[in-house]
Amino acid sequence: MIDRSAFHALSYGLYLVSTTDADRAFGCVVNTFQQVTSTPARVSVALNKENATTQAILNSGRYAVSVLSQSATMDLIGVFGFRSSLEVNKFAGIEHALDGAGVPYVTEQAVARFSMRVIETVDVGTHIMFIGEVEEAEALADEAPMTYAYYHEVLRGKTPKRASSYTPKDEAPAEGAQAEATAEEEQPAEGAPKKYAWQCTICGHIEYLDELPEGYECPLCGMGADMFERIEA
Ligand SMILES: Cc1cc2nc3c(=O)[nH]c(=O)nc-3n(C[C@H](O)[C@H](O)[C@H](O)COP(=O)(O)O)c2cc1C
Repeated sequence: MIDRSAFHALSYGLYLVSTTDADRAFGCVVNTFQQVTSTPARVSVALNKENATTQAILNSGRYAVSVLSQSATMDLIGVFGFRSSLEVNKFAGIEHALDGAGVPYVTEQAVARFSMRVIETVDVGTHIMFIGEVEEAEALADEAPMTYAYYHEVLRGKTPKRASSYTPKDEAPAEGAQAEATAEEEQPAEGAPKKYAWQCTICGHIEYLDELPEGYECPLCGMGADMFERIEA
């Protein structure tokens, strides 16, 4: 027997994994980064084979990780967690730096960062696990790190299919009462109140319009209007 709800008892943080390949920067959100050994300092991360970042790390043999702060925005998570590095330059307009090996890492909305050399890859089916030897580590800010639970429960964020921790429940629309509460908190005070808002069922973005215009695309994850559900504003 496999009780899927048992997996909900697992705790994670939220991270940005990044690398560079052929002079191009790649990066994505993960919750599967963790320390494996202390001496020497080794870590692991599980990346879906369909992520552009995965192939780039296979090519470069290096990756960096930024530990997101609890105050990290859905805008940042939306771009890195739902879009492809092949379609958008995720680092444009985002504060970042290069580590000693020239790998870019995000410095804003992050509390710490690590740089790794890949010492082993494990094919685990849909994902590849990259074991890395830590070559650089640095604390960036004295703030609380983002947890996976905070992302889901407070930010009302979703988990896409490619994440290791995805469950079909993640695709279901947010529950009415909670979605309404979020809409109320975030609605701009200026102007006539809107009767309805629309929430993206993929990334959780809320748009305060009575109707979504023809050809509308979610500014965070790029999904079309058919992936939005109407909620009371
Ligand atoms: C909360 C959250 C957790 C995620 N965790 C992982 C993960 O652990 N492993 C993974 O491969 N993708 C994970 N993803 C999905 C990738 O971030 C997503 O597929 C991204 O668009 C890939 O970008 P890329 O194609 O530019 O690499 C996660 C996304 C979110 C929003």
